[in-house]
Amino acid sequence: MRKQPKISVIGAGYVGLCTAVGFSSKGYHVTVSEVDADKAGKINLGIPPFYEPGLQEKLAAGVRDGYLKCFVNQTCKVVLGSDLTFVTVGTPSRTDGSVDLSYVESVAHEVGAALRQRSSFHVVVIKSTVIPGTTQNTVKPVLEKESGKICGEQFGLCMNPEFLRQGSAFQDTVNADRVVIGSYDKRSGDILEDLYRDFYSPQLPPIIRTSLSTAELIKYASNAMLATKISFINTIANICEKIPGADVKEVAAAIGLDKRIGPHFLDAGLGYGGSCFPKDVQALIACSKTLGYTPELLDSVENVNRAQPLKAVEFCKQQLGSLGGKRVAILGLSFKPDTDDMREARAIPIIDELLREGASVAAYDPVAASSAKTVFGSKIRYARSALDCIKDADCAIVVTEWREFQELTPEDFAENMRQPILIDGRRIYSPEKYSKKLKFAAIGLGK
Ligand code: UDX
Repeated sequence: MRKQPKISVIGAGYVGLCTAVGFSSKGYHVTVSEVDADKAGKINLGIPPFYEPGLQEKLAAGVRDGYLKCFVNQTCKVVLGSDLTFVTVGTPSRTDGSVDLSYVESVAHEVGAALRQRSSFHVVVIKSTVIPGTTQNTVKPVLEKESGKICGEQFGLCMNPEFLRQGSAFQDTVNADRVVIGSYDKRSGDILEDLYRDFYSPQLPPIIRTSLSTAELIKYASNAMLATKISFINTIANICEKIPGADVKEVAAAIGLDKRIGPHFLDAGLGYGGSCFPKDVQALIACSKTLGYTPELLDSVENVNRAQPLKAVEFCKQQLGSLGGKRVAILGLSFKPDTDDMREARAIPIIDELLREGASVAAYDPVAASSAKTVFGSKIRYARSALDCIKDADCAIVVTEWREFQELTPEDFAENMRQPILIDGRRIYSPEKYSKKLKFAAIGLGK
């Protein structure tokens, strides 16, 4: 039996923790270094610092059985105690849309300093999303300078993007559709490939070997393509609304049967949010402009997405006229169901605009209420349930398609609201059924 490499992970965000728990759940020894002492403390108690289905149980088992341990800001220690280090720190956006690489850079300094003390070959794997060229031009020189060693000879360097979706991040970690390994040196690429072959065995996903910069670009191209599909179908939705009898859901279902198009990511709605699509599309635009090319298609993808959530407010005004003093119920706050993450959630521009127009807002989300409080404070009312949220409202808007909202019947809206006006921003209700008793408007539905 092959000796399992010991793994270290720097940064316990979504990607880092799912990677760490993924490996520990399959019997690898994993140590994590995290700067936030609160987060590290929770992890060592077996409690994930964020909501992610399926993660808690596997984390608790990994900690209990001694396969996973988290240290506070101990990069050097975890690197020295392992054979392979995944760097999974954040790469947030700057105000101009470009990527802030300062966390990756400072971790590269720390990892490099640790490598100075190492006698055996060590593989450094960048998993953070970084713009093409970063691993080669920024990370490698820092590692070499700090370690006094030569990359490709005394240590190895890979770029291995992740494609995890929040809400199914753990499942996506253990059942990937592909593994992309960009390597500086063949030896470290082979070591990482062997690790994944062992990890995924017997159900091995395709493994794609590339250069460092191709791997970096694959991540951006993948997210930009998905964001483009969403802005495309939202554009078709906006056209449908002008055509009596047209319905974007039927259009999407039909075009999705064309194998060249495919059925996924064609759900029209109030636009995309989250920690990846908005940031990655902006970063790719900024990177491309720096290289002397203006990617007009991606500029449009972004513009469509910026305008799309405000359609909910437009619909509301069409039904109610002035919003001054009107009560609006928001169903769903997180950027998508099954997460409490409010980053770039479409609820933010919608609620801001409703408040600006003078409406009072009540909102309900099954899990995101406490993270939403950090965004809206006391400017809105946080309802205890969906029914409590729509009670006495003049208009209800479905912003996030949590499954429990599908159970609300037309009668629930008609009997509880002051005015029975429902705006389906995520197309979860049958127009036929809901428009009988309610004034019903939906994204992508011709009048
Ligand atoms: C995404 C990518 O899917 C993942 O591969 C990458 O690593 C990180 O970014 P995530 O941000 O978790 O994952 O969410 P995802 O499920 O892709 O949805 C992103 C946004 O697009 C959500 O706001 C969602 O509501 C929206 N969306 C998605 C649509 O509006 N329509 C769709 O058809 C699909």
